[in-house]
Amino acid sequence: MRILSVASECVPLVKTGGLADVVGALPGALAPLGHDMRVMIPAYPGILEKLRNRVEIWADPDLFGGPAKAHLGRVADLDVIALDAPHLYRRDGGIYADAGGDYPDNPERFAALCWAAAAIARDGGGDGWTPDILHAHDWQGGLAPAYLHYHGSGGTRSMLTIHNIAFQGITGADRLSALRLPPEAFDKEAAEYWGNLSTLKLGLVKADAITTVSPTYAEELMRPEFGMGLEGVIASRAKDLHGILNGVDEAIWSPEHDDAIAPYSARSLKGKATNRARLIAEFGLGDVPGPLAIVVSRLTWQKGIDLLAEALPDFIAAGGGLAMLGSGDRDLEEAMRRAAHIWPDRVAVRVGYDEPLAHRLIAGGDAVLVPSRFEPCGLTQMYGLRYGTIPVVAATGGLNDTVIGATPASLSAKAATGITFHPVDHIALAGALRRLVALHADRPVWTTMVKRAMKADVGWHGPAARYSEIYGNLTA
Ligand code: ADP
Ligand code: GLC
Repeated sequence: MRILSVASECVPLVKTGGLADVVGALPGALAPLGHDMRVMIPAYPGILEKLRNRVEIWADPDLFGGPAKAHLGRVADLDVIALDAPHLYRRDGGIYADAGGDYPDNPERFAALCWAAAAIARDGGGDGWTPDILHAHDWQGGLAPAYLHYHGSGGTRSMLTIHNIAFQGITGADRLSALRLPPEAFDKEAAEYWGNLSTLKLGLVKADAITTVSPTYAEELMRPEFGMGLEGVIASRAKDLHGILNGVDEAIWSPEHDDAIAPYSARSLKGKATNRARLIAEFGLGDVPGPLAIVVSRLTWQKGIDLLAEALPDFIAAGGGLAMLGSGDRDLEEAMRRAAHIWPDRVAVRVGYDEPLAHRLIAGGDAVLVPSRFEPCGLTQMYGLRYGTIPVVAATGGLNDTVIGATPASLSAKAATGITFHPVDHIALAGALRRLVALHADRPVWTTMVKRAMKADVGWHGPAARYSEIYGNLTA
C-alpha cells in the first residue's frame, strides 16, 4: 500500500521530541509488510540540502501567501517530500517559535503543509505516486483529513495519530476562511472549540481512523483528567480509535552495537559497569553507593520534573545519585541546578540537547526516571528497558503499557521489568525511589530484573503489524 505520512518533524532531519523519532521510524517498520510510505514535512532551513536525488513533484504559485514547491528526495532510507515555502518555513528561530514565542502564523504554516499533502494525496505527485492513505500526525496534520473531506479525497482514506493532546492548534474563529475552510466547518460538530477553531479537533472529527500511541492513553483520552477538553469528541469516535504503542528504533538504540558507548548485552553486562563509571566521571560525581538514576527529557510540567526535585532529598540520603540532561522551562532548569549545588557529588545536570550524551546516560545509568503527569507513549523508558537501565515510571499512558512494576507477586512470577508508582505526586515518587534503592541493594534480584528488562519486546514489529491491519481495514 502507498501511504503519505504528514508531520511537522522527522528524524534524521528535524526533531524536538518523540514525534520525530516515530515519524522517522514508521516507514522502515512498515516496509517489510509491503508498505511504501513517504514522509512529508516543511522544508525548514537546511532540509532541502540534505535530500539526495531531489526532484520537484508539485508546485503552487500562491500557497497561503507565497509560492511553494514540493521536492521528493531521499535521506538515509527514507523517501521524503519537503515542502519549500520560504515565506512560511525559512526562519532563523526554532521550527515552531523564536525568542518572541510561537510564530503568530503557525496555523497558516501548518495549514499549508496539510493543503499540499491533501493535494498530493488526491491527485498524486508529478511522478504518478498516489497514496491510498494519508496518515497525519498531531495538530499540525489535523487539517489534512479536513481538506480531503471538504475539497475531495479522490478515494484516499485518512488517519490521524494523536501524539500529545496538550497541543490542539487553537486559533481565532476569524481565521476560518484564511485557513481555506468553508463556513460549515465552524460548527461544534467540526472545528468550533469554545468560540475558537481547533485544527486538531477538526482532524479528529473528519479522519477516517484515529490512533494514539498507547492503549492506556487511548482510554485516558476519553476522560476529562486527560482529554484536555477533547474527551467528548474522542469518546464519540471510540469505535474508530486505536491505541498502538510506539517502538524503539533498534538500529539507533541497541546496547550491543551503539557507537556512543562501551557495548554490552544481557549475556555480558561488563560494558554497562564501564559506562556507569565513565558517566560518573563525565558528570563530575563522586562515589554513588546506591543506584545512579538518570533523566533525559524535555523539562516541562508534563514530565513531572518538579516532583523529582521534591522527592530527591530522601533518595540522596539513601545513597542514590542523579545525572540529568534536559532543557525547557527555566524554573525547572533552575530547580535542578539548585539540587546539583546542594549535592555536588551526587547530582549533576546538563542543560541542553545532546543525542550522543543521551546514549551515554541511558547506557551508564542504573535506572531511568520518568515521573510524567501524563505520557502518551514515552520513548526513554523503552530505551531504558533495551539498555537494562531500570525504568521508574508513573503508571500512566504508555509508561503503564511498557513497564511491569516490581511487586512481590510480579517479582516471584519473574515478570517485573521496572518500578511504577501512582498517584503521580512527590510522595509516591519518593516511595518508588525507596523501592529502587532496596531492589538495587539485592544484587541477585536486581541483576535478574536487568536481564529480563533487556529482553522485553519494545521493537516496531508488533506495532507495525497493527498499523498495517488498520490501513487494510480502511481501504477494504
Ligand atoms: P516527548 O516526545 O514527549 O518529549 P518521548 O519520550 O516520546 O517524549 O521522546 C523524547 C525523545 O527526545 C527521546 O528520543 C529522547 O531521547 C529525546 N530527548 C529529550 N530530551 C533530550 C535532550 N535534552 N537531549 C537529547 N535527546 C533528548
Ligand atoms: C509525544 C508524547 C510522547 C510520545 C511521542 C511520540 O511527544 O509526549 O509520550 O512518545 O509523542 O509518539
